Formats: sequence, C-alpha cells, structure tokens
Amino acid sequence: MQHVYLNGEFLPSDRARVSVFDRGFIFGDGVYEVIPVFGGRLFRLPHHLSRLDASLAAIHLRNPHTAQEWNTIFTRLLGKNETEDQSIYLQITRGVAPRDHAFPPNITPTVFAYAQPLKYSPPEELAQGVAAVTAADIRWQRCDIKAIALLANALLRQQAIDQGAAEAILVRDGVVTEGAASNIFVVKSGRLVTAPKGPFILPGITRDLVVEIARANSIACDELPVKIEMLRSADEVWLTSSTKEILPITRIDGQPVGSGKPGPMHARMFALYKEYKQAFIQGKAD
Ligand code: PDD
Repeated sequence: MQHVYLNGEFLPSDRARVSVFDRGFIFGDGVYEVIPVFGGRLFRLPHHLSRLDASLAAIHLRNPHTAQEWNTIFTRLLGKNETEDQSIYLQITRGVAPRDHAFPPNITPTVFAYAQPLKYSPPEELAQGVAAVTAADIRWQRCDIKAIALLANALLRQQAIDQGAAEAILVRDGVVTEGAASNIFVVKSGRLVTAPKGPFILPGITRDLVVEIARANSIACDELPVKIEMLRSADEVWLTSSTKEILPITRIDGQPVGSGKPGPMHARMFALYKEYKQAFIQGKAD
C-alpha cells in the first residue's frame, strides 16, 4: 500500500481522509507543486519551493513549513528508492470550514503529499515528436499561480486528446501563452523564443532551466510574445514540463512543424539538459 503524507502523518493512502468541507474540494481553493526526483535527489527543489511561496502568497496563505521541514517530509516519502525516478505531488488547501466564499478566519491548511514513479514519454515520442492542437486560452488572468483549480486546463487537454493530439497550445489575443500543462518554446532561424513571465503563464521550472542552459551555452534565447504566425512558421516547437522534460512537437493542427521531425536544436538542448541532469544526480549541480 502506498504511503502518503497528510497533515503531519505518514499513512497508507486508504487511511488518508480529508473532510468533504475542505475548501479544496468545495472551491478548488488551494495550490500545488510537482517536483521531479532523479537518482533519489529532488530536482531544483529551491526553485519549486520559491514558486510555492509565490503561489501561497498570491492566495493569502502562510507557508506551513520551512524549506528544511519540506525536505524532511519529501525525503521520508521517497524512502530508499534511489534507482527509480519519481515525482512528488504536493497540495495545500485553505482547510476545512462551512461553505462561504470569503476566507474563514483562523483555519488550518490541509497539507497533502505523495511520491509516485515518474512516467517518462515513450522513446517513440522523443524520436518522432508529438502532435498538438491550438486552442483559445479560456483560463483566468492569474495563470502564474499554480492553482489546483484546473478545470479549464483539463477541458483543454481533453480537447487535444479528442483530436488525436498530446497537448493543446493555448492562444490569447493572437499570442501563444503556454500548453494546457506545459510551457512552449519556438525555434526560428537558430533562436529560441518563449513567452515572457507574467499573469498569463505558469513560470515553469523546466522553462527556466532551458533558458538558463541556452544562455550558458551561447544559444540565443528571447523571452518575447510568440505570435501565432511565428508558431505556424517555426522551424521547431517544444513543450517543457517537469514530467515531460523537453518534448518536440512535430505537428500542429494537422500540419508538420518545420521538417515534421524533431530538429537539431532540440537534439542539442536535450543533450545539454541530460548532461545537467547527470551532473545533478552526481551532486555536481543543483
Ligand atoms: N504541470 N504550465 C502549466 C499550465 C503546467 O501545468 C505546467 C506543469 C507547466 C510546466 O511547469 P514545470 O516545468 O515547473 O513542471 C507549465 C505539472 C507538471 C502538472 O500539473 O502535473
């Protein structure tokens, strides 16, 4: 039986109980993080914890734990499993109170976390790339908060699946924001372009790492609005996330992207990313 962390206890998942009056259940009033674990080490933990701080501050919740306490909780959830890559899911909701939209005073947040094996993209997806569709970005204006209320994202991802694609590329006022559960990079004439941070995208940890790696290796990388025309004429398009890493998108709305195959810039960036990951596993990078 899988063990989970709930409000200070480690217990089998079938014994973990949350009230039906939890505001996470009633209102989707909470935030979350997904942290990959490579070689038994929490990848970019300080970055995830600082994004968690930003999400909590945005919804007026105090962080219930210090970085050291989070580390202890996650490490216990991971156990001694150092061979299999995993991911930690962490969710904090405002807590339990009679239903009322306004914040109830003095309630205790509900804190829930668990570890699970990381499901990598199958090799053929990396070799051939995946299909995506474009869709109107119907979400709200605080997409920078990693909120658990993901109905719009779920509808958009399902819209993609129903059209035989892996991801929806979201477009707001003619500009690409991000994917339903990923950030988007476009490659044009040897330059990377990705949306600037702001209220319309989640500041992805993988996105930031790709930007960092590009700059460290003199690969031109702009954080600028990606117009839909730029997406349509791109040489390469990638999606990035903690669980999908850097995945080429080779068809958009049924049309090939560039040559229709993963491009040379993806090969280069993915090699650099894997090098970084290897150094991290060996304790030579954080
Ligand atoms: N989602 N944008 C959205 C809307 C996302 O949901 C995610 C990740 C990202 C990429 O962020 P990061 O690189 O930090 O994983 C961007 C996670 C993996 C999820 O909801 O499962």
